[in-house]
Amino acid sequence: MSGEALIEARGVTRILQEAVPVTLVRDIDVGIGHGEFVSVTGPSGSGKSSLLYLLGLLDVPTSGRVLLEGQDTTVLDADELAAMRLRKIGFVFQFHFLLPEFSVLHNVMLPMRRLGGMSERQMDERGHRLLEELDIADQARKRPDQLSGGQRQRVAIARALANDPALILADEPTGNLDSKNSQIVQEIFAKLVREEGRTVVAVTHEPGFAEATDRNIHLVDGRIDRDTKR
Ligand SMILES: Nc1ncnc2c1ncn2[C@@H]1O[C@H](COP(=O)(O)OP(=O)(O)OP(=O)(O)O)[C@@H](O)[C@H]1O
Ligand SMILES: [Mg+2]
Repeated sequence: MSGEALIEARGVTRILQEAVPVTLVRDIDVGIGHGEFVSVTGPSGSGKSSLLYLLGLLDVPTSGRVLLEGQDTTVLDADELAAMRLRKIGFVFQFHFLLPEFSVLHNVMLPMRRLGGMSERQMDERGHRLLEELDIADQARKRPDQLSGGQRQRVAIARALANDPALILADEPTGNLDSKNSQIVQEIFAKLVREEGRTVVAVTHEPGFAEATDRNIHLVDGRIDRDTKR
């Protein structure tokens, strides 16, 4: 595997130690480079979300290693993993998980606040810039429940971009949207790759979305069944 991978899994297996152990993913070997646009597909229960959580350092392997920018993350403790996620990875889920009591702008500023190092004014300006990029700057003062589903998902993407991550991980980001908004969100991800050089890894059930990506990783029963570059 090339040394240039942004995120890499080496021999990753994740087993939940229940009364009857559950294998979420098994023997995953994959490296994803800077600027790649990757879709992850597979039947329900095939391990797509589990793999994304492992690549996103939200879960840790039972065996094997996950490397981010060449650094072995399996040696890090929970605080170090959280700090690494905050700086390097943006997450977008099917449900937006925006905080209802905060304005749209303050939701987008939250990861910057957690990371620290920026003044209130700098965070405010960057938040506005991101909302402009996502074409929802006019919604900045509203609360999330005053927005449409498509607008909320764009806010969630703006929040994912808050700390300028190289890697965006998305778990069925269009799963809750109508076809028009799904198309808008797909185009945003394409733009983050093509124009900003970010890496996007998106789990999707939509064939059209998967076809628009450069590479498709197809899972079956927790293993990589096919890894196809176009
Ligand atoms: N907390 C858990 N306890 C028991 N089994 C689990 C748990 N989390 C996941 N699983 C099982 O692990 C397997 C992989 O789950 P995962 O959520 O990664 O699948 P998925 O491909 O994302 O499915 P979907 O398309 O439905 O979202 C499934 O068989 C699931 O039932
Ligand atoms: Mg899932």
